[in-house]
Amino acid sequence: MQLGRFPRVKLASLPTPLEEMPRLTEILGGPRLLIKRDDLTGLAMGGNKARKLEFLLGEARSRGADVVVTTGALQSNHARMTAAAAQKLGLRAILVLSGEEPAEYQGNLLLDALFGAEVRVIQSEEEYILHATMEDVARELSREGHRPYLIPLGGSTGLGACAYIEAALELLLQANAMGVAVDAIVHATSSGGTQAGLFVGTKLTQAHIKVVGISAGPPREVVERRVASIVEEVARLLQLDLRAHPDDLIVLDGYVGDGYGIPTPQCIDAIRLLARTEGILLDPVYTGKAMAGLIDLIRQGHFDPSQTVVFWHTGGIPALFAHARALSAPKEF
Ligand SMILES: Cc1ncc(COP(=O)(O)O)c(C=O)c1O
Repeated sequence: MQLGRFPRVKLASLPTPLEEMPRLTEILGGPRLLIKRDDLTGLAMGGNKARKLEFLLGEARSRGADVVVTTGALQSNHARMTAAAAQKLGLRAILVLSGEEPAEYQGNLLLDALFGAEVRVIQSEEEYILHATMEDVARELSREGHRPYLIPLGGSTGLGACAYIEAALELLLQANAMGVAVDAIVHATSSGGTQAGLFVGTKLTQAHIKVVGISAGPPREVVERRVASIVEEVARLLQLDLRAHPDDLIVLDGYVGDGYGIPTPQCIDAIRLLARTEGILLDPVYTGKAMAGLIDLIRQGHFDPSQTVVFWHTGGIPALFAHARALSAPKEF
């Protein structure tokens, strides 16, 4: 494997900490729970996209790009981190965001504005429309003499996913140093790049770790298809003899509730529980739902108390402030 041959820019503070969650472990009655703190990647309030952007913007720079164009939801963490990274590298950022133009900028969108990104809001959630709009923007930029670099939804290309192959290796080194054998990784999944990278990383090292992706929105089959096709792309890029049949992948879509970006009561409970046991913040769109899934899997007896499970925190904190009303409703747990 030759991850080092790709051009790269330094954006993330790595390695991120791997920490014990003793109070949560005790409350849930085991398994031993660890947390991989990719909320602390350091770029503009952290998150998983800092790792992917190191590879993607490395390629952008090597191609002489002067404008980065990407897409996502109005509260996209990926868009916020792309906007910040672009500033750090002296590039212009254009964000094609799906939703309604809000009365007030909050959360990630507020940060996009602070980072000076040019935001174009379009009223469609269809992925093909978002990508077609990016292509239109790119054509317009090229006509003006610019060199645009397009990053698809979530930065989930084969190249972006390579970052999570490296992250899986990072985790294994840390776990080895702690003398811990990891049985499973649980994390939020959506555009699939994080899961594809973790899948390849754990397969290559023959670590026998289950990678469990908890969907933040899309149905299981959609995420499985996305992950399998990114794994194929990674295998081509790195000349690996590796495939991910959808049956090899574990994607759970039972914790989405009413839809992407709509927090469930279990998600809000999970956010409160982690805050009040470990002093760690989760977000209401991705990691809160993933933690709600992990808690449910433990309660249903899917893990043995003797096992070790790593909850991979993928970030998303700024979205907390865009959901202040749902999160501030009083409730005791
Ligand atoms: C906070 C957070 N967690 C998880 C994910 C899912 O990662 P991926 O898109 O690689 O599936 C995202 C992606 O948008 C995210 O912003």
